[in-house]
Amino acid sequence: MHARRRPAFATGPWAAVVYRFGMADQLQMYIDGAWVDARSGDRFDTTDPATGAVLASIPRAGSDDVELAVAAARRTFDDGTWGSAVAERDRAAILFRMAELVRAQQRELAELEVRDCGKPIGDAMGDIAEVAFMFEYYAGWATKISGDIPPVGPDAMSLIVKEPVGVCGLIVPWNYPMLMAAQKVAPALATGCTVVLKPAEQTPLTALRMAAIAEQAGIPAGVFNVVTGIGAEAGAPLLTHPGVDKISFTGSKAVGQMIQRTCADQLKRVTLELGGKSPNIVFADAALDRAIPGTSLGIFGNQGEVCSAGSRVFVHRSVYDDVLQGMTDFAAGMKLGSGLDPETTMGPLVSAQQRDRVQAYIDSGPADGATLAYAGQRPDDPALAGGYFVPPTIFEATNGVRIAREEIFGPVAAVIPFSDLDEVVTMSNDTEYGLAAAIWTRDIGLALRTARAVRAGVVWINDSQPAPSETMWGGYKQSGIGRELGPYALDAYLETKQIYINLG
Ligand code: NAI
Ligand code: MG
Repeated sequence: MHARRRPAFATGPWAAVVYRFGMADQLQMYIDGAWVDARSGDRFDTTDPATGAVLASIPRAGSDDVELAVAAARRTFDDGTWGSAVAERDRAAILFRMAELVRAQQRELAELEVRDCGKPIGDAMGDIAEVAFMFEYYAGWATKISGDIPPVGPDAMSLIVKEPVGVCGLIVPWNYPMLMAAQKVAPALATGCTVVLKPAEQTPLTALRMAAIAEQAGIPAGVFNVVTGIGAEAGAPLLTHPGVDKISFTGSKAVGQMIQRTCADQLKRVTLELGGKSPNIVFADAALDRAIPGTSLGIFGNQGEVCSAGSRVFVHRSVYDDVLQGMTDFAAGMKLGSGLDPETTMGPLVSAQQRDRVQAYIDSGPADGATLAYAGQRPDDPALAGGYFVPPTIFEATNGVRIAREEIFGPVAAVIPFSDLDEVVTMSNDTEYGLAAAIWTRDIGLALRTARAVRAGVVWINDSQPAPSETMWGGYKQSGIGRELGPYALDAYLETKQIYINLG
């Protein structure tokens, strides 16, 4: 059952490997340095959302498989295989190699990502470039994590040291599959933690490729494990397993709340990156030639499947008609299609379930008092008839309607007029979420006053959505707990210890 057979794409020299699509490959997952099936033998299919066609068959892991993966991660953490017995610079060297391997396979990984989650190829190329940089960035940090020596008088010394938190269960979503995985895997490995990664069931392919890359880069068997499967079967056992020290999760608020509750039993450390209903504020003096495309991409980019999407578009009354018209023109100019077509600017949603969810929100808008201002067209290519497309949709709304309150996670904008700063700040903050905000104005004082008044973890001024790995990411309020990216992510994977020495 635990044969060391490799998936088709993991054989041969990497440069020559071409992952051919459309075949029903029986892929395996990666546990303790071996490519394995689920112990039960169960499998599930991952599909191409542009066509609905099956892409590959994937092991459907259950608690038996999670047990093996956690045991491997526990063993390699406790015996120092990756953490305490390895020089930081040696860990760094392996992570730098992972970055190189990702970069060398950028195109192939991007195509895999497009096939699995639907996004346009140009966007996927950008995601994979950032994955490579993410490994490089945290490789650099591996040799720079230091503690402190606080003063405690002449007769003693106190050393504050940082240590890896241990075995990390990393549960990631399907909207930026490899990037969300790297955002957790890279800092976890850099600090000396060992890892069990659970990709989303909709998009397991690039996580499996990350395992192949880790293996090739020289990560020792057991340090980095990937269990594929359904959340309740392959993710949930990580939450209750006493061998797991830390859970880092990105996904829906409902699952995040359940994770926090479940992990409380063992007081596992928890980082949560959840949803949002982020305000995008266009002031009267904004440079509309930049604000209109930026605002439009802030909600229509990545099909709107973005936790920080600027889904509530607040526009000053004096430019309201111009911005609404500009967004409509922008939406009408978007080209829906297969993400593999370089002309495509909007792909399908990730799954039939997500399409239906988003469509139900669109259907609820008019009944709730919102006015449909624009609805785009599905692609007419018969080859895409089975795809899960939802065209860009714009509503004129108020802040109280359901489509302006609940996270839709699709290309649906709620455009809402405002008259003054107080009003727009009050409406912006009138949400349970607090992930991000975008502000468009040429008045620096107004921009910064607004940035400070908005209760959100990330604020963009005259831009929307950039999230460089060197910076910081995370939400206020019900958008999450903890921080990712930059040096802030390291804290999520470190414990702090004090060693007190009596010099007497
Ligand atoms: P989800 O929260 O169910 O899935 C995210 C990850 O959690 C996946 O890997 C899934 O397998 C895992 N998971 C699900 N149930 C689990 C459980 N009981 N125990 C452990 N792990 C579990 O999100 P879903 O259902 O795919 O999407 C629903 C909505 O969630 C979206 O419409 C969107 O509003 C939101 N979402 C937010 C994301 C974000 O980046 N903040 C990403 C994905 C979804
Ligand atoms: Mg898929």
